[in-house]
Amino acid sequence: MPSFSDILAKESIFVDRNVLSPHYIPEILLFREEQIEKIMKVLSPAFKNERPHNLFIYGKTGTGKTASVKNIMKKFNDMERKEAVMTYVNCKVYNTRYRIIQKIAKTYISELDKSGFGLTYIYEKLVSWIIENKIRLIIVLDEVDMIKELDDLIYTLTRMNDELSEGSVSLLGISNKFNFKDELDARSKSSLYETEMVFTSYSAIELQEILKYRSNLGFKKGIVDESAINLTAAITASENGDARYALRLLLKAGEIAEDKNREKITDSEVEEARRNVDEDLAAEAIITLPDHQQLVLLSVADLDLKGSRYEKLNEEESGFLFSGEVYEEYRRNCKKHKKKPRTARWFQEYLNDLEMLGLITMVESGKGIRGHTRLIRIGYSAESLKNIIERNFRRGSIPTDSGEVL
Ligand SMILES: Nc1ncnc2c1ncn2[C@@H]1O[C@H](COP(=O)(O)OP(=O)(O)OP(=O)(O)O)[C@@H](O)[C@H]1O
Ligand SMILES: [Mg+2]
Repeated sequence: MPSFSDILAKESIFVDRNVLSPHYIPEILLFREEQIEKIMKVLSPAFKNERPHNLFIYGKTGTGKTASVKNIMKKFNDMERKEAVMTYVNCKVYNTRYRIIQKIAKTYISELDKSGFGLTYIYEKLVSWIIENKIRLIIVLDEVDMIKELDDLIYTLTRMNDELSEGSVSLLGISNKFNFKDELDARSKSSLYETEMVFTSYSAIELQEILKYRSNLGFKKGIVDESAINLTAAITASENGDARYALRLLLKAGEIAEDKNREKITDSEVEEARRNVDEDLAAEAIITLPDHQQLVLLSVADLDLKGSRYEKLNEEESGFLFSGEVYEEYRRNCKKHKKKPRTARWFQEYLNDLEMLGLITMVESGKGIRGHTRLIRIGYSAESLKNIIERNFRRGSIPTDSGEVL
């Protein structure tokens, strides 16, 4: 029988696994010096008793927005100036005007610690606190697109500035949704976008440097092959340049090496990690999908396992399924799972959704094959997708139309 001492005595390839976790805030953010300096310049009036402009930061996922702002926040607070206050709100968690204003007020006004105060009361308390202490308050709204009544919130906070005889409120919004701006009122837009900044995606070379820096801190010397770093960077750059994904791959590759008692992280651990991480990501994406999309995906997986009936017709494009046969399979699956099948038009929409998530790929068939039709190929192993979806079904995440749980 194994003992804990045996397990603990085993040499680890990690120096500090935590350094590779997504929650770690690196002290140095490579390739972001320029952006960080620009943001610091925008915020610096807070230390001169002036109101900093509102700032909006946009950039795709994993481009270092949150990490950069947290890094700046640390420096900001290290200045130890009572009147300059920078506060961080994760809007995925605090996603309404009430929750956000309450969270901020509670942080600084202990009387509000209890719950149950109305918005007006909390608002008035916050105004008094700012005036009495001449506070220059900077509110970071990370993932600002998640806020349900954003126009209301921006309106309330801008109106607050009109009421303040001393001190001020500034907003620093962060988002990775490109079209998010279009959903805002003209007034909130011009307010939130007083200053704007873009974080561009990392190139393969930049990702290499970021990964090297982290692996030097996280792994023992000589554990990670240079080619493994380069491969991780190349895979990530070809997908989306998301540094979070790159670090996740590297951590997973390390865990695989450790698990299998290997002494080094090479290309093969990275390849294996990629399959692993991609499947985890697919599972995460599938869990949030509405039931009919899951049924369509299940049908693609089922058919892929059975093989297309038209395999022979379709020699040039092997491995593809016809959208017509997937639709038939979908109708069968609906029946099996006591769901009312949607029309073919909806079915096409669901296919588009699945393609957007990278769970399937589609091409238009050439004219020769049964007129014009869409050909579908599954993006991951059919078996694992089927397992993921059936597990969701068993967990009862999918109630039937009549409200029963499967
Ligand atoms: N320039 C960099 N140097 C070192 N690590 C970085 C750099 N940029 C990002 N990272 C790391 O990558 C991960 C993702 O970064 P971050 O959370 O800042 O992304 P984001 O732009 O906020 O993404 P999202 O839009 O999904 O919230 C973090 O673990 C972060 O530490
Ligand atoms: Mg972020």
